[in-house]
Amino acid sequence: MDKLAIEGGVPLAGEIVISGAKNAALPILCAALLTSGTMTFSNLPHLRDVATLLKLLAQMGVRVTQEPDAVMSLDASGLDNPCAPYDLVKTMRASILVLGPLLARCGEARVSLPGGCAIGARPVDQHIKGLQAMGAEIQVEQGYIHARAGRLRGARVCTDMVTVTGTENLMMAASLAEGETIIENAAREPEVVDLANCLARMGARILGAGTDVIRVHGVERLIGAAYAVMPDRIETGTYLCAAAVTGGRVRLVNTAAATLDSVIDKLMEAGCDIQLAPEAICLQAPARLKSVSLRTAPYPAFPTDMQAQFMAINCVADGVASIRETIFENRFMHVAELQRLGADIQIEGNNAIVRGVASLQGANVMATDLRASASLAVAALAARGETLIDRIYHLDRGYEDMAEKLSRLGAKVRRI
Ligand code: EPZ
Repeated sequence: MDKLAIEGGVPLAGEIVISGAKNAALPILCAALLTSGTMTFSNLPHLRDVATLLKLLAQMGVRVTQEPDAVMSLDASGLDNPCAPYDLVKTMRASILVLGPLLARCGEARVSLPGGCAIGARPVDQHIKGLQAMGAEIQVEQGYIHARAGRLRGARVCTDMVTVTGTENLMMAASLAEGETIIENAAREPEVVDLANCLARMGARILGAGTDVIRVHGVERLIGAAYAVMPDRIETGTYLCAAAVTGGRVRLVNTAAATLDSVIDKLMEAGCDIQLAPEAICLQAPARLKSVSLRTAPYPAFPTDMQAQFMAINCVADGVASIRETIFENRFMHVAELQRLGADIQIEGNNAIVRGVASLQGANVMATDLRASASLAVAALAARGETLIDRIYHLDRGYEDMAEKLSRLGAKVRRI
């Protein structure tokens, strides 16, 4: 099992290129199931989760072809096995995103329940409720979702809570349904908008993506198209935190600042000087950050996927910060590991009180989930001495070449 060894104390400096967004790439790759045409994707990130999804799609009968310069083409004309088996789904919960497209395209689907993960139970009841409203017959037996439908019918669906992949599944299913579907309480995340833009390129008729009411007029069929995935806003935010906590000065290119307003605001509040360009962000860190409190919530509020990374920078900031996690019930797994590095954090329910300390000390720590491992890397960059992060396969799920990108910014990091 690979580890990451990080020698802290080096202010990051230089420029790196941001990769395509994992959480846009995953639903957009599933959209290929909706058409017998060929889809051509660019700016896909080289991530374990993307590789897992491509393997899942291939075993369904989708022809996956690697084209020159990181372009990928998917041809689902031969789709003949609408099934997502447990052994693949258990390693990547986002596999649930094949459910809506399979139902819309084939009228049937057998998808393993994703099951929980380190950060929470992660139920998919809203996905099922919405598809049933569109006419699907769904039974959940022996850990599998068995779904059947004739042609789906447009419906009005109001989800009980804001759900990103729930909104994405319903939007994809509605694209081929008979009539109009209205999704209320829809997720407004930029990745939902990116998926809607891709579906529109394929001939879907979608209004309101990015707002909390999305209207979809179903069409008979969708056509193949080419699409470039949006930049990863969470990767961007993670490297901004790494630069901020090391007193560094970095320039991140191929990114979209407009998708990160809430994170940029908090970094400015912490004392960073941030300059924005159309496709780049420059951050100059202060000598020492100020503590900044935050509360996670659906977009455009502060993203839960940046909570762990921001907690890491609060660990060595000047002051006391309160961090409230309102999306997932168990997204403080990084706290115990940060405490091993000397952090002063008290948890009270879904609230963490972080008292800034003068410095952290390197230690052996263990990654538990994707963003927790990113948080440990950020903290290690600020810690004195060496930190060894174990189980970094979690990192590989969502960060392309993190060790290389950090090295390019001057960090002393080795993958062992
Ligand atoms: C997406 O997960 C992201 N994953 C997550 O990123 C992200 O943290 C999350 O949205 C919130 O922004 C992808 O896009 C692939 P939700 P998702 O449905 O869609 C509850 C990362 O680190 N809920 O928006 O699974 C749920 O339990 C990952 O990249 C139900 O109760 O999250 C949670 O408490 C982690 N029933 C809340 O809603 C449902 O049917 C929000 O979950 C669906 C969700």
